[in-house]
Amino acid sequence: MKVLRVSVRDTYPLRHQMLRPHGTLADCVFKGDDDELTFHLGAFIDGKLVSVASFYFENKDIFEAAHPYQYRLRGMATLPEFQGQGLSSALLKTAFPLIKQNQCTLLWCNARVSAEGFYQKVGFKGQGDVFPIPTIGDHRLMSIEIR
Ligand SMILES: CC(C)(COP(=O)(O)OP(=O)(O)OC[C@H]1O[C@@H](n2cnc3c(N)ncnc32)[C@H](O)[C@@H]1OP(=O)(O)O)[C@@H](O)C(=O)NCCC(=O)NCCS
Repeated sequence: MKVLRVSVRDTYPLRHQMLRPHGTLADCVFKGDDDELTFHLGAFIDGKLVSVASFYFENKDIFEAAHPYQYRLRGMATLPEFQGQGLSSALLKTAFPLIKQNQCTLLWCNARVSAEGFYQKVGFKGQGDVFPIPTIGDHRLMSIEIR
């Protein structure tokens, strides 16, 4: 398995299949995808891109007092046949030092409730109530400190 930086375009097929199966390709384009400090990571097995995650220099206001500079995680997905093999965890492990290098001390995300167990396993903590995101489902704000 190899973790590499990928272009945002490379993430679209996985985002489409795993996160926006009923959406159009336009639904797979996220705000900030092309921003200078955004980066996208991919895990490859036998040359095939099987897991992706994207990281945005974006603050969540409620964390700002303790963490003036933060990153946001979006678009985390692993193809079903490759899940449970540590690929998303490997992407996060690669991302943490890059986030730290940008002087950021927190990574947060709006986690799907169905994926909360994953985020907890890798050290994220939940915050506040579950809230719906239309057409996608229930989410919870989660975050992890990066020191
Ligand atoms: C959630 C997801 C990204 C995890 O990817 P993955 O590559 O399978 O994750 P890992 O193999 O690194 O998992 C790390 C640990 O979390 C566990 N885990 C993974 N998904 C889980 C889930 N949904 N609930 C509970 N635990 C989970 C794994 O079993 C593993 O446990 P272990 O360390 O005891 O072996 C993947 O299941 C997925 O693509 N789901 C569909 C899309 C999605 O919901 N994305 C998140 C949007 S917020």
